[in-house]
Amino acid sequence: MKHYLVTGGAGFIGANYVKYILKEHSDIQLVILDDLTYAGNLGTIKDDLKDPRVEFVKGSIVDPQIVQSIFEKHPIDFVVNFAAESHVDRSIENPQLFLQTNILGTQNMLDTAKKFWTVGKDEKGYPIYREGVKYLQVSTDEVYGSLGETGYFTEKTPLDPRSPYSASKTGADLIVVAYSETYKMPVNITRCSNNYGPYHFPEKLIPLIIKNILEGKKLPVYGDGSNVRDWLYVEDHCKAIDSVLLRGRTGEVYNVGGHNEMKNIDIVKLTIATIRRLLEENPEYGKALKFSSPDLSWLNDDLITFVKDRLGHDQRYAIDPTKITTELGWYPETKFADGIVKTIRWYLENQDWVEEVTSGDYQKYYEQMYGNR
Ligand code: NAD
Ligand code: DAU
Repeated sequence: MKHYLVTGGAGFIGANYVKYILKEHSDIQLVILDDLTYAGNLGTIKDDLKDPRVEFVKGSIVDPQIVQSIFEKHPIDFVVNFAAESHVDRSIENPQLFLQTNILGTQNMLDTAKKFWTVGKDEKGYPIYREGVKYLQVSTDEVYGSLGETGYFTEKTPLDPRSPYSASKTGADLIVVAYSETYKMPVNITRCSNNYGPYHFPEKLIPLIIKNILEGKKLPVYGDGSNVRDWLYVEDHCKAIDSVLLRGRTGEVYNVGGHNEMKNIDIVKLTIATIRRLLEENPEYGKALKFSSPDLSWLNDDLITFVKDRLGHDQRYAIDPTKITTELGWYPETKFADGIVKTIRWYLENQDWVEEVTSGDYQKYYEQMYGNR
C-alpha cells in the first residue's frame, strides 16, 4: 500500500489527479493538503472526501508545522506537489505571493520529506532514503520561456522564464534539482503544457470564455489572439504524472504535452461554435444561460473583443513529449475535438459548481482585470 500526499488537491489539476488515482489504485491512502485559496474549493472533491482512503488537511505548504504533522501521522511514500499560485495575470499584479508559495512552499515540502524519509547516511555523508519514496514536482512548460514560429521545448531546452509566475516555477524546479543533486533525494519534475477540462477555474482562458458566453458578455482576447498554446486534456496529464511517479527514472525531468497547438483566437471561435451547436442540439442546456434568449443569433464571433495585451505575453508554447512516450509509453489519448466537447458539456451541466467557486472575490477580480482593458 502506498501513502500519497497530494498538495493543491482542491484545485483544478490536483482535484482531477485525486479522482484519477482513487479510480486507478484501490490500495492507496491519500492525504490532501490544500490551503483553500480562491482557487481551491472543497466542493470540487466533496465526493472524494467521503472515501475512507482520503484525509483532507487545510493548511499551507509553506507552513513547516502543518507539513511535519502530516508526516508524523502518516508513513508518506509519495509527495505530489501541485499546490501553487498558478495564474500568470495574478502574478503580474502580485509577484511576491508567487515567490512565497511556489518557491518557499516547494522548499518546505522537500525539506520535510527529506527529514522523514532519511534512514541513514552513506560513507560520503549523503542521506539514505527509505525504499520506494519519491517527490514529484508538478511544473510547467512556461519555465522554458517563449518559442517563435517553429521548434519545440524538450527537457534540454534552457530555462528562460519571463513572467513572475514562470520565474517562481523555475525557482521551484531549481530547488528540486538542488535537493536531488545535493542530498540525492529521489525526485521527478514534470513540465506540462496548458491543461483544459472539468473544474478549471474561470479565470483561465477556456472556462472564462464559456462563463462569459453563458452570461452574454464580451469575450476578451489579449492582443491580436495570435498567441499559441499546446492544449492537453487534464485526465491525460494526471495519467502522465502517475506514470512518472510510479515508473519514471529517479532524478529525471519529463515534458508532457498535447501535440495540440492552437491560436487563442481559434480556441475562442471553436468554443463559441461548440456552445452554439450544443445549445441547438439540446434545448435543456439553455438552462445554463444566465438570461432568457428566444434565439441564438447573438451567439457568434461578434462577441469577441480584442483587449490590451498581457504584459510580457509569451508568444508560443509547444512541447516535445518524445521522452515520456518512449520511456513510459504515455501519449495524449484525448483528441482536442473530443476533449473540448466533453469540457463544454461538463460546464453546461455543472453551473452550480461555477457559481459556487466564483461566489467569493471573483467579481472583484474580474472588474480589476478586465474593467479597464
Ligand atoms: P489551481 O490554481 O487551480 O490550484 C492550485 C491549488 O493550490 C488550489 O487548490 C489552492 O488552494 C492550492 N494552494 C495555493 N497555495 C497554497 C498553499 N500555500 N498551500 C497549500 N495549497 C495551496 O492550479 P492548477 O491549474 O490546478 O495547477 C496545479 C499545478 O500545475 C501548479 O503547480 C501549476 O503551476 C501546474 N501547471 C498547471 C497547468 C495548467 O494548465 N493549469 C499546466 C502546467 C502546470
Ligand atoms: O503552459 C502552462 C501554463 O498554462 C500553466 O503553467 C499555468 O498555470 C496556466 O494558467 C496556463 O498559463 P496561460 O497563461 O497560458 O493560461 P491562461 O488560460 O491564463 O491563458 C491562455 C492564453 O489565453 C494566453 O495566451 C493568454 C490568453 N488569454 C487569457 C485570458 C484569461 C486571453 O486572450 N484572454 C483571457 O481572458
